[in-house]
Amino acid sequence: MQKDPKIKELRDKRAQGRQGGGEARIEAQHKRGRLTARERLDLFLDKGSFREVDAFVEHRTTDFSLEERKFLGDSVVTGWGTIDGRLVYVFSQDFTVFGGSLGEVHAEKVCKIMDMAMKNGAPVIGLNDSGGARIQEGVVSLGGYADIFLRNTLASGVIPQISAIMGPCAGGAVYSPAITDFIFMVRNSSYMFITGPEVVKTVTHEEVTFEELGGANVHAETSGVCHVAADSEADTLYLIRKLLSYLPQNNMEDPPFKQSQDDPLRREIALDTIVPDSPEKPYDIKEVIGLIVDEGQFFEIHENFAQNMVVGFARLGGHSVGIVANQPAVLAGVLDIDASEKAARFVRFCDSFNIPLITFVDVPGFLPGTDQEHNGIIRAGAKLLYAYAEATVPKVTVVTRKAYGGAYCVMNSKHIRSDVNLAWPTAEIAVMGPDGAVNIIFRRELAEADDPVKRKDELVSEYRQKFANPYVAASRGYIDDVIEASDTRPRLINSLEMLANKRDSNPPKKHGNIPL
Ligand code: HXC
Repeated sequence: MQKDPKIKELRDKRAQGRQGGGEARIEAQHKRGRLTARERLDLFLDKGSFREVDAFVEHRTTDFSLEERKFLGDSVVTGWGTIDGRLVYVFSQDFTVFGGSLGEVHAEKVCKIMDMAMKNGAPVIGLNDSGGARIQEGVVSLGGYADIFLRNTLASGVIPQISAIMGPCAGGAVYSPAITDFIFMVRNSSYMFITGPEVVKTVTHEEVTFEELGGANVHAETSGVCHVAADSEADTLYLIRKLLSYLPQNNMEDPPFKQSQDDPLRREIALDTIVPDSPEKPYDIKEVIGLIVDEGQFFEIHENFAQNMVVGFARLGGHSVGIVANQPAVLAGVLDIDASEKAARFVRFCDSFNIPLITFVDVPGFLPGTDQEHNGIIRAGAKLLYAYAEATVPKVTVVTRKAYGGAYCVMNSKHIRSDVNLAWPTAEIAVMGPDGAVNIIFRRELAEADDPVKRKDELVSEYRQKFANPYVAASRGYIDDVIEASDTRPRLINSLEMLANKRDSNPPKKHGNIPL
């Protein structure tokens, strides 16, 4: 007899909690074209897998008469569930409660599930939609943010952390996503900035919209803050699920193996002719990647940022791999600041989480010019060099065409602990391209020649014959083997299997000092 009213009370409370800030605010959220925190979790997690924690938590603030406005669960929904049957921890900010703003208990809820994720070794995914620090709670909110930033930092390299920006994310609040491994944004519906358009106008007199200042396209193309931009909330959540399929649960695990129908011995004849005869002509490295990896499936990261470098996840013979590739179709695949930083961060992510690295090299060198020099190409290029050199995961390189100068060293050369280095017959591995080399070493001879153009052609041809090939490097053992391009898939899978038990480590230290 006693039981029924108690169960009713529990059910009523649960129903009340599910209402968040109430029907009117849910409707307002829908009118903004956005889903609610709970609708997002329904879409994101395996059906019926969500287990909420802290649904009965309420804020403790009394300033500004806030004790009269309490909402069960406050402004964030937290808990765990599964994605493709694998455990994940989630928090989803509820914009219908105080605009998803972060106060004391909101921060405590997020910290609690982050601590659980660390203890139990599973990814944390945050769905961000918040007006930032809860103004009524003052400095307590700032403390709450800092508590989260600390946990983000300590969890970095231990469990994968992914942020989805589903609405506003402004001020210091951006720094939690910024420390996580990947940021996903929804086009035309989410934004991130340190100071909003109003402040920008006051300080710099620039007139700029939310979208122009910090929308998904800006961050996915120009700043590089966003790793993946999607057209809708549903697409964003789907893509995060897909990304997780390539990742281990934590740094102590190997990434998941996915049986593939694609023959590991498949030769791809089209690759033998994909590199154009003229070294000046571009080709699309993504086409090369697509022909090699399992079922042509490539999950690209930073697709629209620094497109002269391509990075992303794929599988080879069922094994997850991280792919890093120069893109000869954009700026001839040259290394610049953005490309170096993009690849360096990706290499470090893969190394943290035991994901082998496959590097495709076709790079004419570093981008010259005052813009690059003054903005620190030296520092940026050093990041990539450092990232590759310290990485201890299996590392395999394929030189498809150019590998010139310092860029040869940087792009996972043998000298910085690459395990297997292969080259196609079209590879050109030298200090610099034939044209530049001839101009420098034969300057005097060319100046004195009767027909300098003819003489230069002869010298370029001689140089090309002698140096612009893979055999000089192979004669030194810098290249382990020169292979027919069509054999690349079987050779890569074989290399990965040979390296399956690779053990390597770095000298004991607190941490290195990557040139930030
Ligand atoms: C408390 C907030 C809030 C906040 C929004 N709300 N932001 N409550 N603290 N920071 C409340 C509103 O009062 C409103 O409550 C509800 O959320 C929805 O807000 P609206 O303004 O009606 O929505 P919209 O028009 O969509 O505008 C959203 C917005 C705007 C652009 C986010 O609310 C806004 O500018 N908020 C302030 C943003 C801000 O300056 N935050 C501090 C940033 S500094 P009702 O009850 O009416 O529904 C920061 C520092 C972090 O965050 C530092 C970390 C170290």
